[in-house]
Amino acid sequence: MSQKRILITGGAGLVGSHTAEYYAQKGEQVTILDNLMRSKLFGYDKESVEYNWNYLDKYPNIKKIKGDIRNTEDVKKALGDGMDVIIHTAGQPGVGFSIDNPEEDYSINGFGTFNVLECARKVCPKTTFIYCSTNKVYGENVEKIPLVESEKRYEFEGGKIVSETMSIDHCGHTPYGASKFMGDIYTQEYGYTFGLKTCVFRMSCIFGTRQFGFEDQGWLAWFIIATLTNQPITIYGDGKQVRDVLYVEDLVKAYDAFVESDFDHKVYNVGGGMPNTLSLLEFVDILKEETGNDINLKFADWRLADQKVYISDISKIKEELGWSPKVSARDGIIKIINWVKENKEFFN
Ligand SMILES: NC(=O)c1ccc[n+]([C@@H]2O[C@H](COP(=O)([O-])OP(=O)(O)OC[C@H]3O[C@@H](n4cnc5c(N)ncnc54)[C@H](O)[C@@H]3O)[C@@H](O)[C@H]2O)c1
Repeated sequence: MSQKRILITGGAGLVGSHTAEYYAQKGEQVTILDNLMRSKLFGYDKESVEYNWNYLDKYPNIKKIKGDIRNTEDVKKALGDGMDVIIHTAGQPGVGFSIDNPEEDYSINGFGTFNVLECARKVCPKTTFIYCSTNKVYGENVEKIPLVESEKRYEFEGGKIVSETMSIDHCGHTPYGASKFMGDIYTQEYGYTFGLKTCVFRMSCIFGTRQFGFEDQGWLAWFIIATLTNQPITIYGDGKQVRDVLYVEDLVKAYDAFVESDFDHKVYNVGGGMPNTLSLLEFVDILKEETGNDINLKFADWRLADQKVYISDISKIKEELGWSPKVSARDGIIKIINWVKENKEFFN
């Protein structure tokens, strides 16, 4: 089999850097495009994803291009003579950022995604295009599912979970939910109208090593980094909010299962599913057990549009791609704890 040419936008980020490493180890010809703006987006005055940018130097089959997905010349340079696969992970991933900066959120997630699709259509119209969508496209429709409350968590009444058939409109989403949905629907359209092989992955909470979590985004990694560097943690709300969490290496395997499949156009919810759900309070308990540290916990008011529960129904992707999550929530947490401990000087 000849080497595949694979472009990963946002290749220095959590999802992008793990995707790049996976395909580099598989022997493919990988290009990453990233403008290293994660720290700037979240007002952090030190480096973050620059760590991943340098980390990937160990793979001679990864070519790195510093550039912006909104800039057509940068995207065309990254595409070169064409790509067999494009995995579009570049994005502004924060809900809070989108509320404070809707124009930049739109320009990165909305226009930026359109620009990558349009360049792909012109340069390599037969390419496979994978889009990192989000559960936030379902917006407040998720809030309409009745909840039950127990000591440490909320749950959907009757064990309900969210499938791909949930309505995506007639409700609020936050600008982030709207700009990500623009990328989601454009990806689908470039499949149906222009014939790209496309897959939209509506991802729930993704976590992993090399995740530079901040208070505004990447809560699992942020709680771990804060605990190990003795910083206080603020929980917005009562801490009973629940997410299903998916370890990033499992996510990348789902992407590859689609790349290798014969499907033309698909939309999947992807997450850890019911067995890998955590409330913030349950996560804090695991963190205490696994680190032995005291945690300086504070509580504040609920944040706008913070879903009380989100749990993906992953039966469609399991059935169609023969994929399922392998790394449990606790094992993934331990991996991040070890990584932060090994790289403590980077966080201090
Ligand atoms: N992490 C999650 O839990 C999660 C959940 C659902 C969806 N998503 C989506 O998955 C994607 C990847 O998320 P992540 O957690 O890896 O985020 P991340 O911030 O770690 O990675 C995103 C990367 O994109 C880069 N980037 C941002 N704007 C850019 C631009 N204009 N041009 C080029 N590069 C740019 C950043 O520098 C960063 O390296 C995002 O699109 C996000 O919306 C993430």
